[in-house]
Amino acid sequence: MQNVTDFLNANRDAAVAELQELLRIPSVSADSAFKPHMAAAAEFIVNRLTSAGLTAEIVPTAGHPIVYGEWTQAAGAPTVLIYGHYDVQPPDPIEKWTTPPFEPAIRDGRIWARGATDDKGQVWTHVLSVAAWLQVRGSLPVNVKFVIEGEEEVGSNNLETFLRDNREKLACDVAVISDTAQYGPGIPAITYGLRGILACEVTLTGPNRDLHSGVFGGAVANPVNELCRLISLLHDDQRRVAVPGFYDDVKPLTDEERAQFAALPFNEAAWLADLGVNASVGETGYTATERRWARPTCDVNGIFGGYTGEGPKTIVPSTATAKITCRLVPDQDPHQLTEALRQFLESNLSPGVKMEFSTAHGGSPSMADLGSPYMAAAKAAIEQAFGNAPVLIREGGSIPVVASLAEILGVETLLLGWGQNSDNLHSPDEHFSIEDFHRGTLASACLWQELAS
Ligand code: BES
Ligand code: ZN
Repeated sequence: MQNVTDFLNANRDAAVAELQELLRIPSVSADSAFKPHMAAAAEFIVNRLTSAGLTAEIVPTAGHPIVYGEWTQAAGAPTVLIYGHYDVQPPDPIEKWTTPPFEPAIRDGRIWARGATDDKGQVWTHVLSVAAWLQVRGSLPVNVKFVIEGEEEVGSNNLETFLRDNREKLACDVAVISDTAQYGPGIPAITYGLRGILACEVTLTGPNRDLHSGVFGGAVANPVNELCRLISLLHDDQRRVAVPGFYDDVKPLTDEERAQFAALPFNEAAWLADLGVNASVGETGYTATERRWARPTCDVNGIFGGYTGEGPKTIVPSTATAKITCRLVPDQDPHQLTEALRQFLESNLSPGVKMEFSTAHGGSPSMADLGSPYMAAAKAAIEQAFGNAPVLIREGGSIPVVASLAEILGVETLLLGWGQNSDNLHSPDEHFSIEDFHRGTLASACLWQELAS
């Protein structure tokens, strides 16, 4: 182990330079204009896995390609599936970035670029640790199978087919994902629960064209007004989601878990100040942490319709659209609740507007087994690399593959996040601490050893 660690420490600068190269590729999955860059990113990764000594390939899908790579010569040792994603969120609003999103810059001990923490920098820690083991020792203590997809940020819609079609090839004992965060600076964490998600889009259409609001206003339904009315019905005055049946399958928080959450250090005032808001707002009766990690939500992500250009324009618009996501907790089902949401909106629709409802994606929530031997191995590896034992946390984000891995391959996932929630993931000025990048790589190198023993 020492020689692997020494090698990683001696090659830190090269590791950062290599990550910068990957970050330079604008692999935005949501926008088809970036498609050639998706292929370039996949190619970059497959080449690196191959040069590290793995057997690697690009697997085409109906959407963006998946990179698969494996090294399976550790006879009798456990097999670990390492999942990550090379796609990134759109960089917009671009003018809010201090340095351009795809020109990775080093400042203040951090690397600044879209995808730095989510997820290229994190996935790269595993690529580097595996490469180091193979270079220094000629072998790994475990078998590894990398699945690095290009559609995580748009809902992983083609990943399930890949998992189902390749059940045997992907057979493994445990999965590892670094796509979450530490609890805070100097407080590494293992995430044992993630929220699920459902995503949809609703369009209301009223008159067949934009109309003069003086000539027609008041006598025909205004789809923007109607959409806002529908949206206002989504929550009751306790800020609970008002869709019938929404909470039926929610596993209530236990007193024990609430106490565990409350025992974690959390300065709510500082947290709010950083966000520029003066209060945490959400479901009555729950703390901010409980609301974020263990309670479901319904959020409008974007709303558009009518005239949004400069100056006034007096119209009754023809259409209005909202993009809506719900975060789900165990045991809520995304498909069932998408239908419940659709029916709720439909049943509250006024005459004079038509509704179109489409589904974008869905993913189930997940909870891991805290008592597993894999969990113990992960704790030990993190403690060695970070110098602190990890805390156990849930998080509010979603990684749809976790539930799919459990369902299709029957494995649990270790969510070992090296990032920080303050890394501006999905925001302008995304960054990743170079120290966390190196510590994560070290923890990954230790993990292979710990999982084998
Ligand atoms: N890395 C995030 C998920 C995450 C972030 C989990 C922080 C926990 C803490 C991931 O890339 C992501 O953003 N996922 C999407 C999934 C969705 C598009 C299906 C999300 O959560 O919005
Ligand atoms: Zn991610």
